Amino acid sequence: MITQEMIAQLKDKMENDTKKEFTVPELIDEIVSRYHAKELTMIREIREEMDAYETDHNTSSGLFKKTQVMDARIQDIFQEFYALSSELKHHFEKEEGEVFPLMVASYDMTEGASDRSDRGAGMDSQEENRGGKLFLQREFQGHDPALLREIQRLEKEHGQTEEHIQEIIRLSDHYGYQARDVRLASIYQKMQICFADLSEHREREELELFERDW
Ligand SMILES: [Fe+2]
Ligand SMILES: [Fe+2]
Repeated sequence: MITQEMIAQLKDKMENDTKKEFTVPELIDEIVSRYHAKELTMIREIREEMDAYETDHNTSSGLFKKTQVMDARIQDIFQEFYALSSELKHHFEKEEGEVFPLMVASYDMTEGASDRSDRGAGMDSQEENRGGKLFLQREFQGHDPALLREIQRLEKEHGQTEEHIQEIIRLSDHYGYQARDVRLASIYQKMQICFADLSEHREREELELFERDW
């Protein structure tokens, strides 16, 4: 008898299988279109709210006295986010402009070699089946140290982003510091949504893309 549990398991398996079938160019396209533009928009909106908050908290009235002064801890939180956002912008640019094209080129070379093999050339090379596709074994033996170094750099940058996020969480007492201020609460809420997206984004790059046999 087919149970609901069996159907759910089958569905999960089908979803997992579909995920595995992403080629490198498809996966890169998915990452760029699904995360990069969206996160840059999120970051821009948070920065706009932070700028407005800062402007309102550093205004002066009268000749000598300030009516509102920016809280030092809030300033530190904002500084962490500014650092995170400018580093991320460079990180995305590097991925899209340098490392991802290298990955596509490396993948194309492998696919091209596989096609040549199908036509009878290069038959001396060992072949293996990966995810339903034929690849040449020699193409997957740590053949691109320059690309591996670039991937390590990207992973290091992912770690730096995570450090900024952890510092923001610490400084803001888990997004509770002065959160009765509705404008700060809104900034905290948008940060949390952005950080959750970044976490999913990082996981997909590291587990689905960087872990391949470059
Ligand atoms: Fe990315
Ligand atoms: Fe990344």
